[in-house]
Amino acid sequence: MNGNFLWGSATAAYQCEGGWKEGGKGLSNWDVFCHSEKNNVNPVTGDIACDHYHRYEEDIRMMAEGGQNAYRFSIAWTRILPEGTGEKNQEGIDFYNRLIDTCLKYKIEPLVTLYHYDLPQPLYEAGGWENRKIVDQYLDYAEICFKEFGDRVKYWITINEPNYETLCCYGFGNYPPNVQNLERRWRAMYHMMLASARASAAFRERKLPGMIGLVSDSYPIVAGKDTPEGLRAAHMADLFFNLSVNEVCVKGAYPRDFIEQLQADGYDISYMFKEDEAVFEKGTVDYLGINAYNRYIAEPPQGPETILDVNNTGDGKKKRFQIGGWFCLGEDPDMEKTPWGMEICPRSIYDLLMELKRLYPDTPVMITENGVGNYDEVTDEGVHDPYRVAYLQGYVDWIGKAIEDGCDVRGYFVWSTMDVYSWINGYKKRYGLVYIDYDSEDLRRIPKDSYYWYKNTIEEKGRTCYG
Ligand code: NOJ
Repeated sequence: MNGNFLWGSATAAYQCEGGWKEGGKGLSNWDVFCHSEKNNVNPVTGDIACDHYHRYEEDIRMMAEGGQNAYRFSIAWTRILPEGTGEKNQEGIDFYNRLIDTCLKYKIEPLVTLYHYDLPQPLYEAGGWENRKIVDQYLDYAEICFKEFGDRVKYWITINEPNYETLCCYGFGNYPPNVQNLERRWRAMYHMMLASARASAAFRERKLPGMIGLVSDSYPIVAGKDTPEGLRAAHMADLFFNLSVNEVCVKGAYPRDFIEQLQADGYDISYMFKEDEAVFEKGTVDYLGINAYNRYIAEPPQGPETILDVNNTGDGKKKRFQIGGWFCLGEDPDMEKTPWGMEICPRSIYDLLMELKRLYPDTPVMITENGVGNYDEVTDEGVHDPYRVAYLQGYVDWIGKAIEDGCDVRGYFVWSTMDVYSWINGYKKRYGLVYIDYDSEDLRRIPKDSYYWYKNTIEEKGRTCYG
């Protein structure tokens, strides 16, 4: 048996549900973005996606048959409150009740993300996360979810990836609102952190059983050069990617040198109110969710300008990443990379977990996402994805070693349960343990080799340090 360790996989509402206009759902910013021609470089939508809205039972059953005991999914804010605020929509609530109850029927522990990139369109139009009003609006929405589902959901996630989402929205500019403006980015992220802190405190006030956390895309950072400039660059990258989120939600305060750097950049930070400090202090997390994909090699910036290229086409071309005054990202030419330029380095998860243990010894960690995107193909004998098996195996082994060395890791979730809409990368970049044949009428599900590998691994590892 695998004790209480959670072995699962993850999805998010917009990426898999479909049913974009069903059950009284309102429109989200992603519905609107995918239907506009502007900026949608891989012009597809999540209107149907995997049709999880109707086929969720099949997906959950496959998880259970694959040995998994937990499912991480997100609630679409627009199903609960179609306009983002105001009247709640019972049909939406009923859908998530069915989803949760089906998980429980198959002995699958639900982990629920309250916000995973899809914002109700009216709130988006009012400025989205840049507008401080959203903090109260998010709290109202979270309270409804705690009330409706809190009797059965024991693991909550306030917000998915405040860092990566805002980097895409306001850094790369490949997610709506498609701008390149880091000043606006930090502001939006601040309101996310504030909203998360408010919801964490509110959850605890309800005295519901369970834990609440935030999912942080976190990165092991290596200094490219062992010089004072090289070490400074590594620290700046750590502030940029990790500490600007993790310190706030785990320790309840922004790092002083982070704030100083925003001021040095000449940014207006008047949106940071003095009274918010108490909110952050009170709203720390019970556990930290980590989305683990890659590591970064930090170098001193090569100039004052900020350059953020992005690879949404899987063309293998090299991209530049530099934050003027902070750092730039280097590369290790000897490391294997995916067609989207992501370095494959499973052992780096060990370094990250040991660093989290050093920084936050009392906070349990949950690996809420780990996976690799690729072009998978179906053959007569199924879907062979040895690259995914090797990648996941490496991560699972190194996580096991970190557990042996004292890290408090409570669960591991593969991204993704089945192939899903991969945001701006469309449908060709597949991460699933289960292949979706998007061309077939019934959106046929075909377990990949990695699905069977995962099943065996859960059985085996459950008898080791993961117990
Ligand atoms: C992180 C995000 O949470 C998820 O939505 C996304 O699809 C995966 N990374 C893969 O890129």
